[in-house]
Amino acid sequence: MKKTAIAPANIAFIKYWGKKDEELRLPETGSISMSLDHCLTTTTVEFDKQYSHDLFYYGLELAPPQESARVFEHLDRIRDRASVAHYAKVVTQNSFPKGSGNASSASGFAALTVAAAAAAGLSLSEKELSILARIGSGSACRSIPEGFVEWIEGNDSETSYARCLYPCSYWDLTDVLVIVDSSCKKVGSSQGHTASKQSIFHAPRIHEVRKLLPQMKNAFEKKDFRQLGELIEKDTIYMHAVMMSSTPPIYYWNAGTMAVIQAVCDLREEGTLAYFSIDAGPNVHVICEGKNAHSIDQKLKTISGVYSTIINKPAERAHIVNNHLF
Ligand code: PMV
Repeated sequence: MKKTAIAPANIAFIKYWGKKDEELRLPETGSISMSLDHCLTTTTVEFDKQYSHDLFYYGLELAPPQESARVFEHLDRIRDRASVAHYAKVVTQNSFPKGSGNASSASGFAALTVAAAAAAGLSLSEKELSILARIGSGSACRSIPEGFVEWIEGNDSETSYARCLYPCSYWDLTDVLVIVDSSCKKVGSSQGHTASKQSIFHAPRIHEVRKLLPQMKNAFEKKDFRQLGELIEKDTIYMHAVMMSSTPPIYYWNAGTMAVIQAVCDLREEGTLAYFSIDAGPNVHVICEGKNAHSIDQKLKTISGVYSTIINKPAERAHIVNNHLF
């Protein structure tokens, strides 16, 4: 009853910010993302009678109680479904900085869902895995399918899940993830989703996002990178306007974030198309066409305040692997 899974993080091009059902993590709108092939979580889960309680480790380190509690609740859901009675040991490892708004909870809960379901002997469809991952951490549902992904809003648990919009090979896009801070974020996204409702921009944003979704699908269909990029930036600004105007306000950006935004605007003025997207943290995802990724990466690395970059192509779906972490 030991299985290991790898799942990619994802960057939302149209973001999920605000829930219509807190417990089931049903979003107020649909969203669209790209899975990231160099931001991966690997997780091994073993259910066994030798364990007298659940254990959760980041590599060799025992995870803090608050983070463990959420993982153990997720194990309970899977145990209930599979009628498994044993406790589990879970070991997880990220290929990128955790908790700094780089969607580590998305890849984390996707990998946990796939590994734990398989270890418990369940054979679930991609849709069922996506629904289960969503209940663990909303955006994790988008880390189950491959490539470019749509989370269908739905109106109950069974109808709110993610599906592949286009496979990895559809469009040669690159996300240059620019790390300006790798420490853990101060305000988690769960708290942020709840706080969003207090922003005066919340309702107009939801209204606009409903219009952006079909526009973005149209940009995908036509492979119109300029249209796609403009929608990506619009959506990011709308979400951060809500964050900054919540009570209390949430400011995820730092000076490095602003410097990268400025550099992206400069690139466009010089004739190179690149667009920024920022999640619940200070780090910046610079979305560009594959042919420009290397030169853009070189330029971004020279900015003061930038520690490192991670170059991501669209990733394959979350899947089981044979190499265990313990
Ligand atoms: O899934 P959560 O609760 O970590 O929320 C994700 C929120 C954003 O990353 C900011 C947006 C998104 O759609 O991924």
